[in-house]
Amino acid sequence: MLENLKNIDNPDYWAFKGRSKRQHCHSFFQYPAMMVPQMQGELIDAALSSNPQIVSILDPFVGSGTTMGEALFRGLNFGGIDINPLAILACKVKSKSGSTQVLQQKTSHLFQAISQSQNTVINVNFSSIDKWFLPRVQVELSRIKLAIEDEPTLWVRRFFWLALAETVRLTSNSRLSTYKLHIMKPEDTYKIHSPIQVFTEVLQNNLGEYKKQSDVLSNNKMLSKGRYTGSIDLVLGDVLKDTGKLNKKYDLMITSPPYGDNTTTVPYGQFSFLPLQWINLDDISRDKSIKRYLESAYRIDRESIGGINIDFKSRSEALMEKSSVFAKSMEKLIRLDGQKRLVSFVYDMDKSLAKILSRLNKGALMIWTLGNRRINDVEIPFDAILSELLIAQGATFLSKFERNIPSKRMARRNKVSATMSQETILVFTRS
Ligand SMILES: C[S@@+](CC[C@H](N)C(=O)[O-])C[C@H]1O[C@@H](n2cnc3c(N)ncnc32)[C@H](O)[C@@H]1O
Repeated sequence: MLENLKNIDNPDYWAFKGRSKRQHCHSFFQYPAMMVPQMQGELIDAALSSNPQIVSILDPFVGSGTTMGEALFRGLNFGGIDINPLAILACKVKSKSGSTQVLQQKTSHLFQAISQSQNTVINVNFSSIDKWFLPRVQVELSRIKLAIEDEPTLWVRRFFWLALAETVRLTSNSRLSTYKLHIMKPEDTYKIHSPIQVFTEVLQNNLGEYKKQSDVLSNNKMLSKGRYTGSIDLVLGDVLKDTGKLNKKYDLMITSPPYGDNTTTVPYGQFSFLPLQWINLDDISRDKSIKRYLESAYRIDRESIGGINIDFKSRSEALMEKSSVFAKSMEKLIRLDGQKRLVSFVYDMDKSLAKILSRLNKGALMIWTLGNRRINDVEIPFDAILSELLIAQGATFLSKFERNIPSKRMARRNKVSATMSQETILVFTRS
């Protein structure tokens, strides 16, 4: 693996500045903290050239599916898990091979239905709707939603829902400069575009990129009778509880896990709260319990890695036994709130490792991209902690290198933490 990785001593090379482009399925939806597709592709290629036997990849924190998209272009089997229904919707849309002609016809039909709609009934109901959406925006989003609901074919509806999710993101009253829900100044709301116009543009882009993706897959002989030749398994669930639902073992794991609890790092759940209100969740999963995520903007984040602080003392003691770097970080954190945050995150992460390792074949490579965040102004070397936890679970360290992050849509420094401008890539094998 390592001999096939270029420039591992050059963090600027791995920044992919000017060399990262989001096309094909990678351009469908702007999820927070997405990986660079070209980087994931290069990592997969290095792993494949060192071991041509690799046929399957696991991403246990699949997010919007950057690794999945790159696995798809290489004809590999793929398994992904995420707790966020919006992430799983994105993955299902991106990996579905359907007829582009059918999609084109249905899109034209949808545009016609929307433009002819006289509906003024708001077909979504949640308590803060008037805070987050202007009345004119609510009417247009309702027309789009109604037209999508009339579409009889599930995979086509999903394709439309994802475009609606992106439209909601771009037309709500929440500022686009942060992933948190943060209301914009009333005097700025005049800048919000017509949702129908935005939706039209997003859907046309996605359709065009979907066609290009189909052509690439077809030219590379990765479609048989229009269907992807590999298998794609996606689980909407908690990596701590639901990894077994994947029911397979994988040859390679590539992921970028959360760097800390979602609430104080990247609030994926809060970001998804408004789009999920406008999508029929039954079209994402048959699991009715996911409707709980519509009740509060914080629910997904609380259920995510590090979201709940319990059993502080016993957890902290157990982790100190496993990781000396964790123990040192705890000493440096003077305040209890910071200590609790670190313990709940590292505890969940450690538990998830056992689950992830159980889904990998013996000798499987693992490639982790992660950042070192700060808690209460103390730098937490998450890469070193994760390395110790992996070694404690029997994994073997192969390599570590850095990448510079060209720009991040996160404040460099905020009240709780200074955010990172470098990420670390850790390479391990499962013994
Ligand atoms: C850094 S993001 C992955 C982004 C992805 N690499 C991409 O390019 O879109 C981390 C993901 O971990 C997910 N996550 C957090 N806690 C989880 C848990 N307990 N089980 C499953 N997924 C979880 C979040 O929902 C988020 O999508």
